[in-house]
Amino acid sequence: MDKLQIVGGKRLNGDIAISGAKNAALPILCAGLLTSGDLDLTNVPRLHDVRTMLRLLEQTGLKVTQDDEHVVLNGANITSLEAPYELVKTMRASILVLGPMLARFGEARVSLPGGCAIGSRPVDQHIKGLRAMGADITIEGGYIHAKCAKLQGTRIHTDMITVTGTENLLMAAVLAEGETILENAAREPEVVDLANMLVAMGAKIDGIGTDRLVIQGVDALHGTRHAVISDRIEAATFLCAVAATGGDIRITNTRTDIFDVALDKLREMGVQLTVEGDTIRARMDGRPQPVSFRTTEYPGFPTDMQAQFMAVDTIARGPSRVTETIFENRFMHVQELNRLGASISTEGNTAFIEGVERLVGAPVMATDLRASASLVIAGLAAEGTTIVDRIYHLDRGYDRMEAKLSAVGADIVRIK
Ligand code: EPZ
Repeated sequence: MDKLQIVGGKRLNGDIAISGAKNAALPILCAGLLTSGDLDLTNVPRLHDVRTMLRLLEQTGLKVTQDDEHVVLNGANITSLEAPYELVKTMRASILVLGPMLARFGEARVSLPGGCAIGSRPVDQHIKGLRAMGADITIEGGYIHAKCAKLQGTRIHTDMITVTGTENLLMAAVLAEGETILENAAREPEVVDLANMLVAMGAKIDGIGTDRLVIQGVDALHGTRHAVISDRIEAATFLCAVAATGGDIRITNTRTDIFDVALDKLREMGVQLTVEGDTIRARMDGRPQPVSFRTTEYPGFPTDMQAQFMAVDTIARGPSRVTETIFENRFMHVQELNRLGASISTEGNTAFIEGVERLVGAPVMATDLRASASLVIAGLAAEGTTIVDRIYHLDRGYDRMEAKLSAVGADIVRIK
């Protein structure tokens, strides 16, 4: 099991290139099931979750050819409509094959994703929406069995805003009969990226970027070329790192218009940000000012940035409060941060952080993807050596993080 060994206290200086967004790439790969044409993708991040998704899709018969720059999918010869448990249990996003399989083939057998460290994460809204479109869905033996001769467009109002729920139902609706209206739709930039690509494939979607998507079903979609949107969560993670260590970095190959709330919070912390095209320059000296926030759906403060900002708050010049409203158990990093000398207490879904002068390195354990990133940030700022164990969590969602960090001066190595 790999670990990361970090010797903290080094300022960060230099350029970091941001990769494509994991949470855009995963639904976009599943859209390859919607057409018999070529889906020619660039800026696909090299992540464990992407490799898992490609393995799952290849098992259905989808053809995958890739080189350094491109991942080309072709769904002309799909031979299996099953997403098996052994793959789905490692990655919940596998549920995203359900909508496309039903839309194009009228059938799917998808293992129910288990919960995960940050919460139970049910998929009842995905099922409710597909049933509303006429799918006959039974759950048996841990699998979702779905059948439908032809999905019918209808109006669907999900009980809560769900990112992959919106994506699944959107991919179902593009080939359904008639008009589908998705109310209370998720507006995350990754949902927008998927929708824009579906339109390039011939789909008819109005309201992209709003909470109301109106889709006119078409008979078939053709292939297209698409560059996956840049990962705003990865960009914010590195900006939190420099907020914690001090330094002067440039984040390149990033979008600067899709995480304003996080950028505002970084300025509140005392980070000097200048935006030039697809580059954000971040300069930081001294201890950060504390920032309080509560996570909400886009365009609010992203839950996927909560742990990373909390890591910076641990050494801020004062107290702060963090409230997590999306997941019921997304404070797994709190105890681990406290092992590094942080002073955090929690009451329900709110964490109270006392800023301390300094953290001190220690062995800690990653529990989920963004918690791992939070521990890396804390380790970079701590005095002495921090060992982060179970970093397979980190590898699911970050493309060579230690290489990007050591290239800007961090003392961080992967040990087997
Ligand atoms: C997506 O997960 C992201 N994953 C998550 O990123 C992200 O944290 C989350 O959206 C919220 O932004 C991908 O896009 C692959 P939800 P998703 O459905 O779609 C409840 C990361 O770190 N809910 O928006 O699974 C659910 O339990 C990952 O990259 C239901 O109750 O999240 C949660 O409390 C972690 N029933 C809330 O809604 C449903 O049918 C939001 O979940 C669906 C969701």
